[in-house]
Amino acid sequence: MHPSEKFDLMRIFWRAVMTDKYYVVAATSELEENGQMYVQLDSEEILLCRHEGKFYAVAYYCSHAEFALEGGTLANGCITCPYHGAEFSIVDGSVLAAPAFEPIKCYPVKVENDTVSIAV
Ligand code: FES
Repeated sequence: MHPSEKFDLMRIFWRAVMTDKYYVVAATSELEENGQMYVQLDSEEILLCRHEGKFYAVAYYCSHAEFALEGGTLANGCITCPYHGAEFSIVDGSVLAAPAFEPIKCYPVKVENDTVSIAV
């Protein structure tokens, strides 16, 4: 392994273990299947989604024209922007359909004791 790859792995580990701080944002019962909720943590505006029994946290705003993704359709692990139809993976934020070309941010989510927490 190249030394720079080791450094990247250490940085990822450090961020995941030492710097991400989880905040409880909801009870699991607050979101039904395909439910969505606006969350603000620090300066981050986040859309919490429940889809196929799991919780996901993505950027609240679409990377195309910065309109809210809230209200977009959730299907097959992706969210479709309600404005111009861009599609994003809610797993990793990647763009699945234009007109957006930039991915959206995703946040780590933890479910414990019937609560949902997001790390920022
Ligand atoms: S604002 Fe989302 S596709 Fe245009």
